[in-house]
Amino acid sequence: MTSSDRRDGTLPSAPTILREDAPGKLNLTLDVLGRRPDGFHELEMVMVSVSLRDELTIELGTGEPWAVTCDRPEVPTGPDNLCWKAAKAYCDAAGVDPQGLRIHVEKRVPVQAGMAGGSSDAAAVLRALNRHYGRFSEEELRAVGLTVGSDVPYCLFGGVALVHGRGEELTRLPDLPGELNFVLVKPDFSVSTPELFREIDQAEVSARPDTEAIVSAIRRKDRNAIGANLQNAFEPLVAARHPIVEELRQVLLAHGAIGARLTGTGSVVFGLFCSKFRAFSAALELEEFCPLVHLATALPAGVFKLKK
Ligand code: C5P
Repeated sequence: MTSSDRRDGTLPSAPTILREDAPGKLNLTLDVLGRRPDGFHELEMVMVSVSLRDELTIELGTGEPWAVTCDRPEVPTGPDNLCWKAAKAYCDAAGVDPQGLRIHVEKRVPVQAGMAGGSSDAAAVLRALNRHYGRFSEEELRAVGLTVGSDVPYCLFGGVALVHGRGEELTRLPDLPGELNFVLVKPDFSVSTPELFREIDQAEVSARPDTEAIVSAIRRKDRNAIGANLQNAFEPLVAARHPIVEELRQVLLAHGAIGARLTGTGSVVFGLFCSKFRAFSAALELEEFCPLVHLATALPAGVFKLKK
């Protein structure tokens, strides 16, 4: 039945439209502490959400079969899309039926990039649905998020956080000091996350972050110490296969970045700059050999509303 073809003769009510932003994240640090009995890995990460974001429109009460669409053809639509999975997980857990649901994603966060774009979209769906239906507490919503993906609990809250476990144990940290700018570069390759986790099981972790040092630097608002302590356990594995990772890092550092690293399992490489002008000039040069370059800032904590 379509919204204009109701057998009971009543006029259909207009769909409810919810809008929600889904910012990408960067790993200031990523450490893999070991493999867990459930097959996942115990992680220790410091994450920050950035101003580069997807924009979601969620329609409830369409009276049509569920649909997910995206302006980028490479993003899967249908039940495999994390937005769909999140909506299904929410409706099942809350025992609600939206009477038809359509989600449209305008993608700005690079895909397969280590920026949790898909997880952030899923988290945005959970936030919007929870504001509408108001069923869950923060903790309950985080548990629903974890059934969708390991990064979803963090993405629900965003900001600067120390993250443990599979990704669900969060400790909020103070916002980064002002005037920090990120340059994000997406080289033309993608990495399989499960494959990389399997590979790190066989390898000695050679790039272990000093998590305590970066947390202390964030608390002291010491920008240079934050830059000096960016680290990612996956970077040596990815850089060994893709020398462009190190080349991009060197360009960023040559332009005055106070630190530069791979985020997540890649393939985005980011540089951290105190000067907006230097960030801009790095971005201009990088655009000559990488088509996907973005400037971004850190998002302050508390920008997301989980309840009405
Ligand atoms: O939870 P998510 O679906 O995002 O994880 C994708 C893959 O990354 C998992 O299938 C697993 O191989 C790996 N992973 C892991 N340990 C984590 C998070 C992810 O091994 N803490």
